[in-house]
Amino acid sequence: MSNYKFPDGFLWGGAIAANQAEGAYLEGGKGLTIVDLLPTGEQRRAIMEGYVQSLIPEEGVYYPSHEGIDFYHRYKEDIKLFAEMGFKALRVSIAWARIFPTGEDEEPNEDGLLFYDRLFNELLAHNIEPVVTLAHFDVPVHLIEKYGSWRSRKLVGLFEMYAKTVFTRYKNKVKYWMTFNEINMLLHLPFLGAGLVFKEGDNKQQIQYQAAHHQLVASALAVKACHEIIPDAKIGCMLAAGSFYPYTCNPKDIFKGMEKDRESYFFIDVQSRGEYPPYAMRFFKDNQLDIAMEPGDTELLKAHTVDYIGFSYYSSRTTSTDPEVNKNQTTGNVFGSIVNPYLEKSEWGWTIDPLGFRITANQLYDRYQKPLFVVENGLGAVDEWNEEGQIDDSYRIDYLGSHLAALGEAIKDGVEIIGYTSWGPIDIVSASSGEMKKRYGYIYVDRDNEGNGTLNRAKKASFDWYKQVIATNGESL
Ligand code: BG6
Repeated sequence: MSNYKFPDGFLWGGAIAANQAEGAYLEGGKGLTIVDLLPTGEQRRAIMEGYVQSLIPEEGVYYPSHEGIDFYHRYKEDIKLFAEMGFKALRVSIAWARIFPTGEDEEPNEDGLLFYDRLFNELLAHNIEPVVTLAHFDVPVHLIEKYGSWRSRKLVGLFEMYAKTVFTRYKNKVKYWMTFNEINMLLHLPFLGAGLVFKEGDNKQQIQYQAAHHQLVASALAVKACHEIIPDAKIGCMLAAGSFYPYTCNPKDIFKGMEKDRESYFFIDVQSRGEYPPYAMRFFKDNQLDIAMEPGDTELLKAHTVDYIGFSYYSSRTTSTDPEVNKNQTTGNVFGSIVNPYLEKSEWGWTIDPLGFRITANQLYDRYQKPLFVVENGLGAVDEWNEEGQIDDSYRIDYLGSHLAALGEAIKDGVEIIGYTSWGPIDIVSASSGEMKKRYGYIYVDRDNEGNGTLNRAKKASFDWYKQVIATNGESL
């Protein structure tokens, strides 16, 4: 038995997203969305970065999101399994294009609204709290075609309309919300994060920070609407977190580490503190970025800050100013990082660093002094059936166990944490690679990278392990 004391009412659970789980990509009147244009394989990365050839899915190309893991039809079966593990919360996202298929329809799509009514009802019937992200790598394709997505201020009002529609509809069912998933992803994978498509000659940085401003204003408007429509709800932001380590104690490396962290903190500084930080103003000036703001934006950002800081943590990251050292690259989530010689890596090269989780949680809490919510954490790995017909994913148990222990330490450090929803409690399509074989689940889904398989669900060894963690409120760790 551990001596970790997770708070009473801690929201243990898992997190998935519409775009990686639902499938049924055109069912119930849904419009096309970003992920419906993302194939697997080589081309995926370039498209996610904003080099998009076509806004129509191509004939003969395999798009894993089109069927996902068929959560749209199988959610009851899946929720039953989550309930068996004792989940207190499930993080899901709403597909914007299920509610407004083009993003600017006169009326919301009733079929789409009904789907989420049924989903939330099912969760509540199992005493599982829905935690809902408004936009998880999700923009209706029509808005990309017509307005250039978040480049345009027009998206702010359309997003507000969508947010108000779902707050009003689900106000009695959903009390935990988040605005944009990994809002800082916009700087790394701008098409995935914000539907941005680049043309030759574009000033990418200018477009990205303008889009960021639009998302930040939209986020503040969503916070405002949420507080007005559902006064007893909590609404948070969501950061792809993982602190940067300087490679050496050379002050140049230290400064670079600080700058790299600020690249991400920038978003949360605005969403949580309510204003553009001074270092951002200098950055805009140095890079000749001219961000168009409307009268009232500053006041709006200040008045409608988030209630909690949602974040994902998979890896720490390491940075250096030495060009030689910089040659040794790996990843920390999809963020560039150099290899940290003290740490192991996953099969996909993501650095594994449980202590980094404690460090990140402490730094976020020191900075914002608001409750934190860990809404993603996990290990993407290849799972194999053994001769006894089981998946013994002890590597996943090790990863999750060590990270939860680090979280237990962070709680002892005094960090206030509302809950922990591990990523992909059931195997889903990988966001970065589009693969199915990069699995995170306690529940296996019979589906391969080419779309073959029965889609049947099966428990892995980690299923009972996590069930025990939840049942003991972390004492079994
Ligand atoms: C986060 C995203 O970046 O990491 C998820 O919010 C994503 O959508 C998760 O799936 C894990 O990344 P991947 O690429 O292994 O699926």
